Amino acid sequence: MKQPSTGKISRRHFITKTAAAIALPTILPGSIFGQNRPSNRITVGVIGWGMQGPDNTRNFLAEADCRVVAACDLDKNHLKDAVDTINENYQNKDCAAYHDYRELLARKDIDAVMIAVPDHWHALAYTEAARQKKDIYGEKPLAKTIGEQQAIVRAVQQNKIIFQTGSWRRSQASYRRACEIVRNGLIGKVTRVEVGLLDGHIDFLSQFSGSNASFEVQKPPVELDYETWIGPSKMQSYIQARIHKNWRWNYNTGGGMLMDWIGHFCDIAHWGMDADRSGPSEIEGRGEFPPKEDVFNTCTKFRIELKYPHDVQMIIAGGYPEIENESTKWIGTEGWVFAGESGIECSNPKFTGNKNLPDELRKVKLYESPGHVRNFLDGVKSRQPTVAPVETAHHSATPGHLSLISMLTGRKIKWDVLKEEIIGDVDASKLLTREYRAPWKLS
Ligand SMILES: NC(=O)c1ccc[n+]([C@@H]2O[C@H](COP(=O)([O-])OP(=O)(O)OC[C@H]3O[C@@H](n4cnc5c(N)ncnc54)[C@H](O)[C@@H]3O)[C@@H](O)[C@H]2O)c1
Repeated sequence: MKQPSTGKISRRHFITKTAAAIALPTILPGSIFGQNRPSNRITVGVIGWGMQGPDNTRNFLAEADCRVVAACDLDKNHLKDAVDTINENYQNKDCAAYHDYRELLARKDIDAVMIAVPDHWHALAYTEAARQKKDIYGEKPLAKTIGEQQAIVRAVQQNKIIFQTGSWRRSQASYRRACEIVRNGLIGKVTRVEVGLLDGHIDFLSQFSGSNASFEVQKPPVELDYETWIGPSKMQSYIQARIHKNWRWNYNTGGGMLMDWIGHFCDIAHWGMDADRSGPSEIEGRGEFPPKEDVFNTCTKFRIELKYPHDVQMIIAGGYPEIENESTKWIGTEGWVFAGESGIECSNPKFTGNKNLPDELRKVKLYESPGHVRNFLDGVKSRQPTVAPVETAHHSATPGHLSLISMLTGRKIKWDVLKEEIIGDVDASKLLTREYRAPWKLS
């Protein structure tokens, strides 16, 4: 789950590198930033301090040209840890603490926000941040439903903000090189793509604290504003095993392993396929689901077949050993490439390894990111798109949402890629959105 640290890049190095690429003025225009800041630094607020928020924030703290000035969480213990960590880093007491993210977002002196809240909160938090003209480092999957994702894309585009999604493998050279092998035709015409995700559930609370999470109904702990934590989702009794980190195993708040990982390995699959603005036209899958009333009720094992343009077949699987977990494999008429946590493998061993393709073979060059947070901060300054912008995040997660809809309805889904509509299936179409619990509304 960890994003590798981007490492510290000096301001001098940053300006030299970026200026060459985008002719950035050495004096940064004041209009890019808000008022009343101590220096020309980008001011950042962080929202959500659970599993991923601290990792993301550490990468911001490592960058000299930004300053984290505010933190927000609904859990008082998490919020205190956030404020203490940020203050300790800067050796001061300046970090402001917020319970309500809307108050943090209303601050005019904050330029950008890192948001790492559970998926059921993404749409409300991202659209409000966009409305307040904050650049966003957000998380995958883009949102809990396709309808919410469309609202986020609209809000980001209308407000002309910079968006980076936490699909950080796009900032890793090995995945880029694998995608360049595919894009440069070195495995021939792609016919099949295998996306390997994880299966089952992990009780993160026991993994992190060593003691089992409680699966009993209890009173919410005093430190957590549980009513707000549930937010726009259906109110459920408080069960510790359904909250921090484990929310992803219950469909009221998360999307199981399928949606937790789609924003990594389908995202990489699309990059290689040149499908960042495209998608599948037919989706058919089967999965194994626990009873709906279980605390962990998300799909434990799944295999989905998707039809892409140009006769490309994609398989998305979790729990099928023939498709390796946490990997993407492209198979073409003249060979294959595999990219996973262990690195790249290729049917032609000449292309396996740590070097870029030789120039004569590397006609298509993909976006070279210096690090995911670094790339976001560069985008905030240059106003150029990041390596994982909102439109890409939307298209990377959409096959996962449609796969889930196919499994839940038990039917093949036909998808109009351009109109972004399910064709001829009223009941399946209802699953493109979800009802919000009052008073929450997505505008
Ligand atoms: N890019 C990656 O590799 C990666 C890895 C892990 C998680 N994630 C993503 O990060 C996001 C957060 O996941 P996590 O595992 O850190 O969850 P988590 O439950 O560990 O942490 C979420 C935090 O957000 C807080 N929170 C919830 N609603 C809030 C609200 N409305 N306002 C303010 N704070 C709120 C919670 O109290 C909690 O502290 C998810 O979208 C997840 O998919 C990405």
